[in-house]
Amino acid sequence: MNRAELITLFEKHFQRRPEVLAEAPGRVNLLGEHTDYNDGFVFPAAIDRSIRVLASPRDDGRIRACSADFGRFSEFSLSSLKKSSSETWSNYLRGVADQLIKNGFLMGGGDFLISGNIPVGAGLSSSAAYEVAAAAAFRKMYDLDIDNVRLALLAQAAERQFVGVQCGIMDQFVSANARPLSAIFLDCRDLTHDHVPLDENVSIVVCDSDVQRELNNSAYNDRRTECEESAILLKKRFPDAEALRDISLEGLEQNRDLLDETHYKRAYHVISENERVLEGIRLLRNGNMPAFGKLLYKSHAGLRDFFEVSCPELDLLVELASGFKGTLGSRMTGAGFGGCTVSLVEAGLVEDFKTKIKMEYDRSTGKTSRIYACRPSGGVSTQSL
Ligand code: GLA
Repeated sequence: MNRAELITLFEKHFQRRPEVLAEAPGRVNLLGEHTDYNDGFVFPAAIDRSIRVLASPRDDGRIRACSADFGRFSEFSLSSLKKSSSETWSNYLRGVADQLIKNGFLMGGGDFLISGNIPVGAGLSSSAAYEVAAAAAFRKMYDLDIDNVRLALLAQAAERQFVGVQCGIMDQFVSANARPLSAIFLDCRDLTHDHVPLDENVSIVVCDSDVQRELNNSAYNDRRTECEESAILLKKRFPDAEALRDISLEGLEQNRDLLDETHYKRAYHVISENERVLEGIRLLRNGNMPAFGKLLYKSHAGLRDFFEVSCPELDLLVELASGFKGTLGSRMTGAGFGGCTVSLVEAGLVEDFKTKIKMEYDRSTGKTSRIYACRPSGGVSTQSL
């Protein structure tokens, strides 16, 4: 739906005009998977798909929300915020309002219309984009003094406390802070970051496997727990280590006796993935995109064999991409268990890539892949209507 259509829909539902529009992008992570909640490094880019939130303030402390895409409504009061089990799509908005209130921001209610073009459950962070856009809409309506880093933290807290995924900061951070034509090199421990320009001759191509990620929250939360347990076990020999981020691959190998097979594998992936991000940034700064691309294949192997969050369809997409002459690198992106791969493809060969991979993948799996090139985009934006 375009902007004018959304405004018309808002007016139809709420019998008034929307006053603000907030828009926040989804993301694709180029390197650094399952490292954010281990205080590690990530390298995501925002994509040209987003969630839009149109809103107008209310002074009665109530929220009325409409999902344009699902055709659903939800109404609730700010004074008794609870999770909804029937209108689960509204929990992101509820969670954001809850966080703003808990952090002492004075605000009233609002009418909200939510719409987006980020596929849900594909691992492109539609939920983070929704949280960031909702928080930005509140910020604009009530003139709240929140910078984009804090906005990301509030949105992350909403996801953790209201939606129940113990996610890291990557998705919300990039949705709030990205810049066009670049990716963010982020240290998830202290949130220092750098915008690294991307080579425009290389396209970022997302292949959606058509395997719904099913928001596999429990498997995600389990991985997170295993990582924390590994860090605690290793702390016996590295008393200063606060997270897997603080342990080297050599340190892990020398103290392997502390861990069982599963914990060793989880730690091995996280520690080597952190090293890959640092190496990848060095390579990109030297303009060595081909070597950077090779790191994506290594990352995928780690996620498949050690972190065990891939699936046969994602493995097949990576394998098919690796057989295409214009591919520099490919791997699963996001939490895993389905969703998408990201491939770096020579810009002039993207159309060939799309046709070839789609034909081969759909034929061998019976699924319907969706493949598109993404333009690295800027972060959240807001405007008065
Ligand atoms: C999800 C989470 C992120 C991150 C990735 C895996 O997208 O929301 O915080 O942990 O998975 O890298």
